[in-house]
Amino acid sequence: MIGDTLLSEADIRAKVAGLAVEIRRDFGPGVSIHFVGVLKGAFMFMADLMRAMEGPITCDFIALSSYAGASASSGQVRLLKDLDQSLEGRDVIVVEDIVDTGLTLSYLQDILRAREPRTLKTACLLSKPSRRKVDVKVDYIGFTIEDRFVVGYGLDYDERYRNLPYIGLMKGSV
Ligand code: IMP
Ligand code: MG
Repeated sequence: MIGDTLLSEADIRAKVAGLAVEIRRDFGPGVSIHFVGVLKGAFMFMADLMRAMEGPITCDFIALSSYAGASASSGQVRLLKDLDQSLEGRDVIVVEDIVDTGLTLSYLQDILRAREPRTLKTACLLSKPSRRKVDVKVDYIGFTIEDRFVVGYGLDYDERYRNLPYIGLMKGSV
């Protein structure tokens, strides 16, 4: 089912290290950055990004509905698990695996902004700009990719392949 490797472990490691430095530089060296990870796809990226970053960090997770066992978006977003902690006055970075149509992130940014964080930025490991349906602001993008369905490094197809340490193309995807 898995075809070619799109991004190797080394590609990902180098990119994540660069993003960690860039994000820390932008927020400031002593600033406590609150990571909000979007379950489940972002868990691996978030763990590596946090490990690669210096300075004070806290974290929390939120879960949104995603594709129900298929590789096509329903266009519907639902909150499945809310954050444990308040965002008020905090410097927040939302960490997501991939921005595709942008519907998930745009919904998420709206509900998080309403909680009045001091800063709200977004980091996505991957972006498929050709699929965008809504114009959503993503401050940090790891890799811009073509319209291909990818798995691994947290990303799934029907809940499988999240454990792959690299990002691969699904065979038979467009
Ligand atoms: P959006 O709302 O269309 O931007 O979709 C974002 C969500 O769709 C991501 O958080 C992923 O869970 C899922 N997704 C989009 N493209 C892919 C892909 O190529 N592989 C795995 N999941 C994907
Ligand atoms: Mg996701």
